[in-house]
Amino acid sequence: MDKIRIAGGRALHGEVTISGAKNSALPCIAAALLTADIVRLENVPRLVRDVSTMRLLLEHLGCETQWEGNTLSVRAANIDLFEAPYDMVKTMRASVLVLGPLVARFGKAVVSLPGGCAIGARPIDLHLSGLEALGAKINIEHGYVIATAQKLVGAHYRFQTVTVTGTENLIMAAALARGETILENCAMEPEVEDVIRLVRGMGARIEGDNTEILRIHGVDSLHEATHVVIPDRIEAGTFLMAGAVTGGAIQVNRCVPEHLTAAIEKLRENECGIQTGKDWIRIEGPKKLKPSDVETHPYPQFPTDLQAQYMALMTQAEGTSTIHENIFENRFMHVAELRRMGAHIEVDGHLAHVYGKTLLSGAGVMATDLRASASLIIAGLVADGVTMVQRVYHIDRGYERIEEKLRGLGADVERIS
Ligand code: EPU
Repeated sequence: MDKIRIAGGRALHGEVTISGAKNSALPCIAAALLTADIVRLENVPRLVRDVSTMRLLLEHLGCETQWEGNTLSVRAANIDLFEAPYDMVKTMRASVLVLGPLVARFGKAVVSLPGGCAIGARPIDLHLSGLEALGAKINIEHGYVIATAQKLVGAHYRFQTVTVTGTENLIMAAALARGETILENCAMEPEVEDVIRLVRGMGARIEGDNTEILRIHGVDSLHEATHVVIPDRIEAGTFLMAGAVTGGAIQVNRCVPEHLTAAIEKLRENECGIQTGKDWIRIEGPKKLKPSDVETHPYPQFPTDLQAQYMALMTQAEGTSTIHENIFENRFMHVAELRRMGAHIEVDGHLAHVYGKTLLSGAGVMATDLRASASLIIAGLVADGVTMVQRVYHIDRGYERIEEKLRGLGADVERIS
């Protein structure tokens, strides 16, 4: 198994280019199931794990797919299976995104129920009750969701909790339902908006942009489209925090600064110097980082997917920071590993108190999930000595060539196979 070795203590300088967003690419690939025509997706990150798994899943269902650089073309003209098997879903929960498109276009979907994962129980009850509201019949048998429908019919559905992939699944399903669907309390993440843009480009009639209420007028069929996936705001935020923690000065290119408004606001509170342009953000780490409290919430507030990285940054702030995780019940797995590096962090339920500044020392650490691994890399960049991050397959799920990009900024990082 690969490891990432980081020799800490070098300030990062230079520029880095951000890849396409994983959490946008995954539902966009699933959306290709809505039509028999070719869907061409540009700026798809070549992530050896999640993106490859989604592609394999679509091929398993009968799609033809083709890579050309970062463009992935998908043609779902000959679907002959309607099942997302356990082996695929267990490696990637986002497999559940094929549920809405399959049941909407073919009237049938069999998808393994994802289990819990390292960050929480993560049920999909709202995906299922939303589809039921559109007339799908849902049965759970032998660990599989079996969804059937003659034809989905538009309905009024309110999500009890804001759910990103739940909203995406329902948008895709409603696009081909008969009549009008109104979805309330929708997730407004940029990735959801990106899926809306793609599906609209395929001929769907959707009213609402960046709104928690969406009105979808179902159409009989959808058609080919070419779509450019948005830049990954979480990758961009991770690099900003990496630059800041080392006291360096870096520029993050090909990103959308507005997608990071809440994170930028926090980093400014921490006294980082930040400038933004149309598609870039420049950050300069301060001599003394100021502590700050943060709470994770659905977009446009501070994202849970940057919480772990921000915690690593706050270990270097002069004073106490409080971090409140509101989205997932178990997303503090990185705390124990950060402590092993010398961080002083106390956890009380959904709250973590980070007492800074602590001198971190390089250590062997274990990645437990994608964003936890990013936080350990950030800690390693500022730690004294060598940090060896194990189980880096987690980081490969969400970061394209992270060690190369960090090296380009002057970090002493290498992957050991
Ligand atoms: N929830 C329910 N029932 C549901 C769906 C969600 O109770 O049917 C709860 C979840 O348990 C959680 C909350 O609602 O407590 C929000 O979960 P959400 O459904 O929004 O999460 P998700 O769609 O499974 C996506 C991202 C995650 C990101 C979350 C929150 C993708 C593929 N995944 O997951 O990304 O953390 O939204 O923003 O889009 C990551 O990239 O590291 C990652 C975990």
